[in-house]
Amino acid sequence: MTLRVAVAGAAGRMGQAVCAAVDGADDLALAGRADPALGTSVDEVLDGCDVVVDFTRPDTVLDNARTALAAGRHVVIGTTGFDVDQLRAAAESGAGGANAFVAPNFAIGAVLMMRFAAEASRHMAAAEIIEYHHAAKLDAPSGTAKRTAGLMEGDVPIHSVRLPGLVADQDVVLGDVAQTLTIRHVTTDRTSFMPGVLLAIRRVTELPDRLTVGLERLLWP
Ligand SMILES: NC(=O)c1ccc[n+]([C@@H]2O[C@H](COP(=O)([O-])OP(=O)(O)OC[C@H]3O[C@@H](n4cnc5c(N)ncnc54)[C@H](O)[C@@H]3O)[C@@H](O)[C@H]2O)c1
Repeated sequence: MTLRVAVAGAAGRMGQAVCAAVDGADDLALAGRADPALGTSVDEVLDGCDVVVDFTRPDTVLDNARTALAAGRHVVIGTTGFDVDQLRAAAESGAGGANAFVAPNFAIGAVLMMRFAAEASRHMAAAEIIEYHHAAKLDAPSGTAKRTAGLMEGDVPIHSVRLPGLVADQDVVLGDVAQTLTIRHVTTDRTSFMPGVLLAIRRVTELPDRLTVGLERLLWP
């Protein structure tokens, strides 16, 4: 069965990469592109799609998700910097019977970094996170850094660097007596996120819960 996918934020940096990845997948069909820059709203692309993928902005993602869920369309969200509890409320009250999946980071290496950082924090005295992103990123600290810190033991300060030339990198630096350990994840291109996005699109329709958070839930359930 071919899943029909609409992309919200289709004219953006991530949205364009998602459109190309969906277009290139044999089992998926690109059914719509929503973006004010293209003159199309999410409402207008719901007909004929099964899943809406959202890479937009923190101040628009919830409205987009509510619209899609109310119409019974599953949503896969990569947008960061919004309140996931509000998404939970929308997903769980949805009469449309659709699921929501959200991940602060769709790169497999980043998910592994978070897992290793959580494990290392149980054995090292202290840790800090330094996250590096392109200068146009709207939120700081990044969703990935906040989630990493949340998975680790102790208080983990986060430092945010915003510079042209970067995509999305993160160092988790752990310190203890006369030693440090650095766990580093580096992306060179936005295609790094696409295997994770395609996996979420293929799995979102069959998830047991109305809301699922984190790519790790699909990788090692
Ligand atoms: N989860 C991840 O792995 C991951 C990776 C990279 C970026 N991100 C996040 O994805 C989001 C998008 O990042 P980007 O770099 O592509 O941003 P971008 O600014 O390049 O693109 C956002 C696009 O959304 C469009 N948009 C605004 N309002 C809209 C609406 N109501 N409906 C549809 N489209 C709308 C804008 O016109 C723009 O084209 C950010 O929140 C970023 O933090 C997540």
